[in-house]
Amino acid sequence: MAAEHTNPYLPEPVVIVGTEMENSLVKTFRVVFEDADRMKRFSFIPGQVGQLSAFGAGEATFVINSPPTRMDYLQFSVMQTGEVTRKLHQFKAGDRLGLRAPLGGGFDVEGMKGKNVVLIGGGIGMAPLRTLLLYMLDNRADYGDITVVYGSKSPEDFCYKSDLEEWNARPDMRLIETVDNSCTLWTKCVGLVPNVLLDEKPSPVNTIAVTCGPPIMIRFTLQALEKLGFSDDQIVTTLERRMKCGIGLCGRCNIGEKYVCVDGPVFTLSQLKELPAEL
Ligand SMILES: Cc1cc2nc3c(=O)[nH]c(=O)nc-3n(C[C@H](O)[C@H](O)[C@H](O)COP(=O)(O)OP(=O)(O)OC[C@H]3O[C@@H](n4cnc5c(N)ncnc54)[C@H](O)[C@@H]3O)c2cc1C
Ligand code: FES
Repeated sequence: MAAEHTNPYLPEPVVIVGTEMENSLVKTFRVVFEDADRMKRFSFIPGQVGQLSAFGAGEATFVINSPPTRMDYLQFSVMQTGEVTRKLHQFKAGDRLGLRAPLGGGFDVEGMKGKNVVLIGGGIGMAPLRTLLLYMLDNRADYGDITVVYGSKSPEDFCYKSDLEEWNARPDMRLIETVDNSCTLWTKCVGLVPNVLLDEKPSPVNTIAVTCGPPIMIRFTLQALEKLGFSDDQIVTTLERRMKCGIGLCGRCNIGEKYVCVDGPVFTLSQLKELPAEL
């Protein structure tokens, strides 16, 4: 259920404690519940989302991209696309927003224990992978090899640049950053995410692959994973179907009998293949 009070449509007030521009379009917000006790009681699973509201402008869905192992604040990264996100970008530290969270289901972090994990992200699609990765790094002994492939149009467009520096320096994980086209001063990988993945050839043995990003990247990444021998049960992704109520009542997000807001947004490829072809 979204909130502790009886009306699940009512946002709870949160205060912005920090912001950061990730690139020209994405602004990250760190928020805490105004009620300090609520902050202490709040719990969630990596991959769960919240409806963040700019009072008077409406609400929109964003993944909680900080991990549940670090509860000083909840972090959301908002890419400016339309009315609500444009309004949200105007808010700054000290301002109040509304939040309905946690909503939906998260990643199967229990089922991934003892397995190798390959995270494949593109653009703002790194947001759900960030919470999962930080959660696994905070519980490092529970997981096998961790590989991250993160693609961006250009070096400036990467989100979470300070995290990337830290992840690069860690001996217990591997990060491959790639940009679409070569450019001056970029000495790392160049190429589209699915092609880089095919070059890297992660082994499917005892491995789960999780991919989030633009639909075109997901489509070719799924094909690449299949080529590498990953089965449908070993491939996990998130669906960004538009949401309204977030609690399975309004019918805005359904695909056949499944509601992305309660049955997802995280699905295995096997589960996706059971959905009607409208996807
Ligand atoms: C489960 C889930 C998790 C998400 N996590 C994040 C996140 O962490 N960070 C982030 O920046 N965004 C995320 N999104 C997308 C975000 O919810 C939308 O960008 C936001 O609702 C846009 O609101 P708006 O009023 O600014 O834009 P609108 O005015 O509603 O739309 C502007 C344009 O974007 C298109 N659009 C808006 N939302 C979607 C969508 N969900 N799918 C496809 N096209 C869309 C519209 O068709 C329109 O062309 C997530 C969405 C879902 C469903
Ligand atoms: S958003 Fe209302 S049913 Fe899913």
